Amino acid sequence: MGEKDSEKLIWEQMRTPTAATPIAAPQQHRTLPRLLVLLILFVSVTYVVYTLKLVSTSRACNNDAPFSTDNFSKTILSVNATAAVLRRGSLETNPEDRTDLRHVVFGIAASAKLWEQRRSYIKLWYRARDMRGVVWLDEEVKSEESSDALPPVRISGDTARFKYTNRQGHRSAIRISRIVSETLRLGMKDVRWFVMGDDDTVFVTENLIRVLRKYDHNQFYYIGSLSESHLQNIFFSYNMAYGGGGFAISYPLAKALQKMQDRCIQRYPGLYGSDDRMQACMAELGVPLTKETGFHQYDVYGNLFGLLASHPVTPLVSLHHLDVVEPIFPNVTRVEALQRLTIPMKFDSAGLMQQSICYDKSKSWTVSVSWGFAVQIFRGVFSPREMEMPSRTFLNWYRRADYTAYAFNTRPVSRNPCQKPFVFYFSKAKYNSTMQQIVSEYERHRVPHPDCKWNMANPAALNKVEVYKKPDPHLWDRAPRRNCCRVRKSKEKRTMVIDVGMCREGEVSET
Ligand SMILES: *[C@@H]1O[C@H](CO)[C@@H](O)[C@H](O)[C@H]1NC(C)=O
Ligand SMILES: *[C@@H]1O[C@H](CO)[C@@H](O)[C@H](O)[C@H]1NC(C)=O
Ligand SMILES: *[C@@H]1O[C@H](CO)[C@@H](O)[C@H](O)[C@H]1NC(C)=O
Ligand SMILES: *[C@@H]1O[C@H](CO)[C@@H](O)[C@H](O)[C@H]1NC(C)=O
Repeated sequence: MGEKDSEKLIWEQMRTPTAATPIAAPQQHRTLPRLLVLLILFVSVTYVVYTLKLVSTSRACNNDAPFSTDNFSKTILSVNATAAVLRRGSLETNPEDRTDLRHVVFGIAASAKLWEQRRSYIKLWYRARDMRGVVWLDEEVKSEESSDALPPVRISGDTARFKYTNRQGHRSAIRISRIVSETLRLGMKDVRWFVMGDDDTVFVTENLIRVLRKYDHNQFYYIGSLSESHLQNIFFSYNMAYGGGGFAISYPLAKALQKMQDRCIQRYPGLYGSDDRMQACMAELGVPLTKETGFHQYDVYGNLFGLLASHPVTPLVSLHHLDVVEPIFPNVTRVEALQRLTIPMKFDSAGLMQQSICYDKSKSWTVSVSWGFAVQIFRGVFSPREMEMPSRTFLNWYRRADYTAYAFNTRPVSRNPCQKPFVFYFSKAKYNSTMQQIVSEYERHRVPHPDCKWNMANPAALNKVEVYKKPDPHLWDRAPRRNCCRVRKSKEKRTMVIDVGMCREGEVSET
């Protein structure tokens, strides 16, 4: 109690620093404004006098000059201005000049020990034909297969000369931190962004590009996201891009970093990892983190379901810690589960995992669709503000079920046995060209449900859910907004049919 009180006192003092000295103030209070006015007057008068003088002398100068500098500089200025306007316009409109996958180089942090297993994650998303990347390893690995599906492998430079004094961590952090600089030094042409990730990071590359297109690659950008764990963010930094979730560094920033990174790393021998070393150097460069919440570090244990089923209204860019969490679809291996996710990804990457919330009024059910992943049906009516919070199907990074552990709001899976959701997992999808819609199917996850005495239709009567949705590649060119869904009349009793898409004029998620 005493501690809390003293803390409060300190906060009060900090928030109202002037409150402590009001007694001495009054006299100064009256004289200060007068002094200020005088000062401003003095400054503006000198300014006017000086500019008048300058203008007249420069004119005189011009008249004497052999050619008019005025004319000369004007032409240069106009050329420069047109160039700038052209550049800005092309960023938005000219498809030739738009940032594309070919402008990105991936730098993947890997280790020889886990390479055999982890490379299957990279194969899921990497396409050697359209992408450039390098896997950085600590030592040579045997390579039997012609790895068309994988980026070329390189061995990181020696880091023995760097000091590492953190007791908990491992000095490989230094090697991994230097991947940005080492990748830059390969001298690849036409690079706009370096994107870093781990060997257990899966990227949705089309969405990565959608995010990067929002930023001018000619400027300094450090883009990524935080940890889910509030404590991790406190221990490390709320200004740090967590490496496993992946982060992007614009080309000029990588160049600036490369010039100073080795010196910078020497200044922080006590830091734990590679990404906090990166953040330390970003702080020296004065570049803040641009947060994009579609990069997912996933510092959690257990089942990601709650997080995936209420993804923020932003493109899904990456998934990480896939070895740590359970497979995202039940009863299959981790890699098989992610392979299944590539089906909806190919049909409509922009809409992948996007949530929509609607109600089956006749049955008093709440329906939440996470497109391409799962549909949940709840008995009763839940408000959208509750449904858009992730349900705590996962444990925190310290393996506890503690809702104060997260840097965002969460909700319990159910407050009442009757309200345990009926989950339908994505199984297959096809494109119907007549309707120009993607038809995706979700099958019920058959797990025991607690007895429920509510006099209400039982969602267990359903076997599957069919979701109709038009592909919407321009979803993220508009202001962020959740899609709307509508429960349709179904011909089959055991199938629910849902439309998902842009909300219509005046449409809201209400009962
Ligand atoms: C200024 O530039 C224009 C063309 O941009 C040219 O016609 C004109 O002669 C120039 N004037 C002088 C003083 O050089
Ligand atoms: C714009 O101006 C700068 C100097 O002010 C110059 O270095 C640069 O070449 C100019 N760019 C163009 C397109 O004229
Ligand atoms: C899990 O998969 C196996 C084989 O694919 C199947 O026989 C079994 O019924 C499945 N279990 C559930 C709960 O779906
Ligand atoms: C596409 O949808 C129409 C209308 O529902 C249906 O008649 C047709 O059989 C569907 N085509 C395919 C290939 O599923």
